[in-house]
Amino acid sequence: MQIIKNYFHIGLKEPFCVLHASDTHITFADNRDTERKLELSQGRNRIFPTAEENLEFLKEKACKEERTIIYTGDLIDFVSEMNFEKAEDFCKSVDIFMSAGNHEFSHYVGEAKEDAEYRNISLSRVQRIFNNDIRCSSRIIGGVNFVAIDNSYYLFEKEQIDFLKKETEKEYPVILCVHVPLYTRELYDLEVKQKGNPAYLMSVPEELMQSYTPHRYEQQKQDEITAEAFDFIVNCKNIKGILAGHLHKDFEGMINNDTPQLITGCETVREVYFD
Ligand SMILES: [Fe+2]
Repeated sequence: MQIIKNYFHIGLKEPFCVLHASDTHITFADNRDTERKLELSQGRNRIFPTAEENLEFLKEKACKEERTIIYTGDLIDFVSEMNFEKAEDFCKSVDIFMSAGNHEFSHYVGEAKEDAEYRNISLSRVQRIFNNDIRCSSRIIGGVNFVAIDNSYYLFEKEQIDFLKKETEKEYPVILCVHVPLYTRELYDLEVKQKGNPAYLMSVPEELMQSYTPHRYEQQKQDEITAEAFDFIVNCKNIKGILAGHLHKDFEGMINNDTPQLITGCETVREVYFD
């Protein structure tokens, strides 16, 4: 695992540090699940062969240094009994503040349209692994308000934007923790122009999605509430930074010229310092 240090200078009396990690994608299954799931596990393990050791590294580092982990989704790759158990063991041994990723609710990875109905099949079971509400919650650490919102289907919901607005009215600076990074032209160009992929970002402008396949367009187009959320986030002075994942790579950019967005890949732990 690679370690990257980042710094937020936001005028705190006492400095502190958290760890940011994302997208470990553990791929366990055993005979409590179906044959299809065991095959999925084998196939997905070839894509994420270091997931188990990455999680162990993160656990040891967090425990040794007594750091809270801010985790931005896809800890588990798909729903399985053994993934649930492994995630539970991990969460019992560390202090973790979690926002959900799309894979937390995935049954067979890409077999069905991922929407609220699909998510609700496993939401209550997945939620039991974690101490905070993985779809919408906040936690104050060292005088900074970390707000976790599940935007992993490329959408904000009304309750989530209402919650975020209320949180930003409090006296604490806010760090927004989401799975899917927010659109910036720089990130879009990097993903679409250089790699020929869809951008896999929240709130990509309609006119920039013309080259997407119908499936990816349908998956990633924003709705009115998400557009409102995006406008609010990029203009809110009390949001001092965004922590995100989903792209499986490390990236540091700016939203609206003054808000850093840190994206953390599968093989990286960020030490994020605040002072
Ligand atoms: Fe992921």
